[in-house]
Amino acid sequence: MAFIADALSRVKPSATIAVSQKARELKAQGRDIIGLGAGEPDFDTPDNVKDAAIAAIKRGETKYTPVSGIVPLREAIVQKFKRENNLDYKPEQTIVGTGGKQILFNAFMATMNPGDEVVIPTPYWVSYPEMVSICGGTPVFAETTIENGFKLTADVLERAITPKTKWLVMNSPSNPSGAAYTRDELRAIADVLLRHPHVWTLTDDMYEHLTYGDFVFTTLAEVEPALYDRTLTMNGVSKAYAMTGWRIGYAAGPLPLIKAMDMIQGQQTSGACSIAQWAAVEALNGPQDFVTKNKAIFQSRRDLVVSMLNQARHINCPVPEGAFYVYPSCAGAIGKTAPSGRTIANDEDFVSELLQAEGVAVVHGSAFGLGPNFRISYATSETALEEACNRIQRFTASLD
Ligand SMILES: Cc1ncc(COP(=O)(O)O)c(C=O)c1O
Repeated sequence: MAFIADALSRVKPSATIAVSQKARELKAQGRDIIGLGAGEPDFDTPDNVKDAAIAAIKRGETKYTPVSGIVPLREAIVQKFKRENNLDYKPEQTIVGTGGKQILFNAFMATMNPGDEVVIPTPYWVSYPEMVSICGGTPVFAETTIENGFKLTADVLERAITPKTKWLVMNSPSNPSGAAYTRDELRAIADVLLRHPHVWTLTDDMYEHLTYGDFVFTTLAEVEPALYDRTLTMNGVSKAYAMTGWRIGYAAGPLPLIKAMDMIQGQQTSGACSIAQWAAVEALNGPQDFVTKNKAIFQSRRDLVVSMLNQARHINCPVPEGAFYVYPSCAGAIGKTAPSGRTIANDEDFVSELLQAEGVAVVHGSAFGLGPNFRISYATSETALEEACNRIQRFTASLD
């Protein structure tokens, strides 16, 4: 009898962590490496948020909190959903977790029975299928294409839904593609969901505040109020307020689901860190100029990277609407020979040869379920991005 649970045999280690690890190893060997694998803003947490945390410590807010979160934070979440998404929730319909990750995990844990299916559009954030598998469910992948901007279409969704479907996961703007859904695109998805009342939707809106140009963010329950009773709207402070290490995520949804998630959390962590919760109150209620300022910085980095990648041979890089990722295709490089003499058979070979030849660390698209592509995180300085893109141009020019 194996000691480790069978469920873990279905789980893959994180490819994004593996790339960072490989880049670190090469750096330790003295190689000049530019890491474009990180999934976190390179900015520091704003001072008003740090000050709120320090004040919370000094006030003695250092004890267990209610499992689902402190009242001021749950109220701030209610106000945030009203102010920014025109969604009405009561504080008891909200829950705070240790990062957005725990919210997602608890939602799956609270709902999955063996055989239940979760529709996950590709390319997906690496953790969705693994979380579903750990919780005993079955991920069902719904493919998008570069031609439709990596967005799920109504017909693909319709084909993916079966009587066993429990959830659809929507992530807009997306990690890894940066694609964000317009109101019309969400309308088309909502119309399919209205025909399948047994399917709930988990909307991961983590990158809500990072959309560029005249793109207007919207979320599913806002577009179709009839889906409110079967939508869990998830969000967090990690990306918008550069608070990845504080580990605060949150969600709002139907009361029975929130209660079930509360029960799991009560047996698991007893709730998120008290100090980080007070910091999140300030992030949500305090001045929002930090978000606007960084959005402008991210947009100019996105434009730089997209333009330089589209000047690289064999690369096709669509312009994503949001997040801090681009997801170019390297289809043109498949079958070519790298400077090492090896043939590039797939996107994993492409990123590994790029790392060896030019010291640029990116993540292969097949790790996110759709290739041949690769993901670049532009959450780093323009200088580093420019140098990295120059190296990518040099690398692709050297392929024959
Ligand atoms: C799409 C998406 N959802 C959720 C998360 C998790 O966020 P947190 O750091 O708050 O757990 C991430 C983090 O990378 C993400 O990219």
